[in-house]
Amino acid sequence: MGKGKVDALLGIVFGDEGKGKVVDVFTPRYDVVARFAGGPNAGHTIIFDGKKFVLRSIPSGIFDEGKLNIIGNGCVIAPDLFMQEAKELEEAGYDLKSRLHISKRAHLILPTHRVLDRAYEAAKGKNKVGTTGKGIGPTYSEKASRTGLRVGDILENFQEKYDTLKARHEQTLRDLDYTDYDITEEEKLWMQGIDYMRQFPLTDTEIELGKAIAEGKKVLAEGAQGTMLDIDHGTYPFVSSSNTVCGGVCTGLGVAPNAIGEVFGIFKAYSTRVGSGPFPVELFDETGDKIREIGHEYGAVTGRNRRCGWLDLVALRYAIMINGVTQLIMMKSDVLDTFAEIKVCTAYTKNGVTTDQMPFDTEGWQAVYETLPGWQTDLTGMTSESQFPKQLRDYIAYIEKATGTPITIVSVGPDRAQTITRQPGN
Ligand code: IMP
Repeated sequence: MGKGKVDALLGIVFGDEGKGKVVDVFTPRYDVVARFAGGPNAGHTIIFDGKKFVLRSIPSGIFDEGKLNIIGNGCVIAPDLFMQEAKELEEAGYDLKSRLHISKRAHLILPTHRVLDRAYEAAKGKNKVGTTGKGIGPTYSEKASRTGLRVGDILENFQEKYDTLKARHEQTLRDLDYTDYDITEEEKLWMQGIDYMRQFPLTDTEIELGKAIAEGKKVLAEGAQGTMLDIDHGTYPFVSSSNTVCGGVCTGLGVAPNAIGEVFGIFKAYSTRVGSGPFPVELFDETGDKIREIGHEYGAVTGRNRRCGWLDLVALRYAIMINGVTQLIMMKSDVLDTFAEIKVCTAYTKNGVTTDQMPFDTEGWQAVYETLPGWQTDLTGMTSESQFPKQLRDYIAYIEKATGTPITIVSVGPDRAQTITRQPGN
């Protein structure tokens, strides 16, 4: 039997591209679905049979009975939120405990990490990152400082380890003069979450994956957030705290680079961003409002308004390079159905300098646009590429040419069924 491959499915802009739906459509092709980075800051929405599920930490393969799902070592996990999320799925009839394996090396988000997240944000004043408040940054910082607690720690002397770390956090909070918080109730639930997690297989997931790959199994690595929120390659410091790019699949799951197969890069037909930070394509006018309204661009986790704008080819090309994207997937194309004109950002300009390469400091750049005709046709009922209007075909061809990468899937609505596979070059 030949060696299996790990295909990566990655958001390649600012997250919220609709990864949940695509993983769900892709799952039948894979034996294992694994999350490699991030935690409950993610919100992967899946809609089918009229039901809506928002997955935060649990891989989207969970709806497919025969699949193994893995939360990898690169993830951070909040036991209370995990319990809530998992119980909802169990109540909906899905069996989790035999099919969801959690890496012993994944790091735990403590209630005090969440307080620290708020405290650090408050201390930043107007330079706030606009985090999701889920304790992601403080947990990853602790991992890098080598003081964090890992899932495997819950198997022995946990209370003692917990109390030590919590006491350290409380000291830091006193030093920051951030003392107006009460985690009593939250902590109780969190501890129940720890007991609940003990009922799951807590394993060396990298070894399991190594065996699966050696046996020829197919693995899908499900990304979270997006390339422009990557700690190294995003719009630092307005980023998340993990490697959301394809390299993160290797470190966050313990798989070798030569095991990576296809790299699917997901983007929306337009752009959105949640939280602070540079966003050259942002529209402050009614066009931006219209995109937000039609696209329901409000955060799945925080409910915040997403900032909206036209497609950014500078960011897209950069992300394709960093991730080695082999196929592009264009989401939410139907949101642009009623626009007479569609703009595309081809370069950035600032103080008389124009560039089509992602600059070190993305602050203060203005977008340079090209305008294309809109299709002004309802795409939502379409089931095949042959039904696409000419202007949509032209839009697709334009992006493929500008990025040198084929678009193999076009999504025209939130349901699984509204996902059209196409032949590049058509
Ligand atoms: P954190 O990950 O909570 O630390 O937030 C850091 C930045 O990443 C903020 O701007 C968040 O809005 C953004 N962010 C984090 N997770 C997501 C996501 O799943 N989708 C979109 N933006 C996200």
